[in-house]
Amino acid sequence: MEQKDVTILAIETSCDETAAAVVRNGREVLSNIISSQIDLHTLYGGVVPEIASRKHIEKINQVITEALQAADMKLQEMDAIAVTYGPGLVGALLVGVSTAKAVSFASGIPLVGVHHIEGHISANYIENPDLEPPFVCLVVSGGHSHLVVVKDYGEYQILGRTRDDAAGEAFDKVARAIGLGYPGGPKIDKVSKEGNPDAIQFPRAKVADAVYDFSFSGLKSAVLNYLNSCEMKGIEICQADVAASFQKAVVDVLVEHSMQAVQECGMKKFAIAGGVASNSSLRAALEQACADRGVAFYHPSPVLCTDNAAMIGAAAYYEYIKGVRSGYDLNAVPNLKLGER
Ligand code: KG4
Ligand code: ZN
Repeated sequence: MEQKDVTILAIETSCDETAAAVVRNGREVLSNIISSQIDLHTLYGGVVPEIASRKHIEKINQVITEALQAADMKLQEMDAIAVTYGPGLVGALLVGVSTAKAVSFASGIPLVGVHHIEGHISANYIENPDLEPPFVCLVVSGGHSHLVVVKDYGEYQILGRTRDDAAGEAFDKVARAIGLGYPGGPKIDKVSKEGNPDAIQFPRAKVADAVYDFSFSGLKSAVLNYLNSCEMKGIEICQADVAASFQKAVVDVLVEHSMQAVQECGMKKFAIAGGVASNSSLRAALEQACADRGVAFYHPSPVLCTDNAAMIGAAAYYEYIKGVRSGYDLNAVPNLKLGER
């Protein structure tokens, strides 16, 4: 018997992107609308939570309408309303959760709450129709750095996580320190292309008792110390060299941990996810490392690496077909752990 299509309207407001998308059967994106607040937060050098919430409220209805229009579909044709309910900024999450609950209640269409990181991982399903669990996934975003085994749809084993700063956070802080401003990741990625990655030897941090854990705050301090000592000696820094050397230190650690995980888990598939996964140097290094080991490498396009709602629709599909539904008591959970519901 042929399976009926499942079409999901997905909503994402966990940080500074107001996003809605229509996704069919978890992999086919019919529309993907993203209203970014980056320009606004750039004025303050980072995301201001209160401003993010207010902007989400202003934009959310319009973004949902645009997503349905771009997909050429009506709300009543949706099988589910999916929404990110954590982790993220509580006020920002609440806008999406309240809106999704209201739309679901008014239309009678079931509600499915989605974990933001599960969304990032699921972005890989969209452009890789052949990708199925199990696989190892490196999730590197502004708020999270995780190395996980995706055992099955919605089933995760966390191998390692950051002990302090997330990878994206380190990019953003170092970018600010060397005068590149916000958002740091894409700017460091760009200027690094003009720099020498071996110009300065920054530390590759290891966590003694946990081989898969990350620590980026020591690296960030090393960059700050380097900048201070240059200033004291009256030496002018080369922004591109500092950026490229810092980036290489992050990439080296991410690649080493990832390949160790792939090897020890005996996995032949490896994927990356999250905003930092759009970093060109990281992608190139992982591509090479995977090719050397005969491991298939999966990565979303840059627009699906950073926050978007299509990835939430992809994750929601696999929950929906398992029968998962959320009640109208669904709440925003700012520190929701991966694998928890
Ligand atoms: O996944 P994401 O959009 O939001 C979170 O869930 O955190 O990730 C945003 C993070 C920011 O820290 C940003 O600087 C970083 O991803 N990022 C990058 C690049 N593009 C975005 N980091 C390094 N290289 C990039 N090209
Ligand atoms: Zn994210």
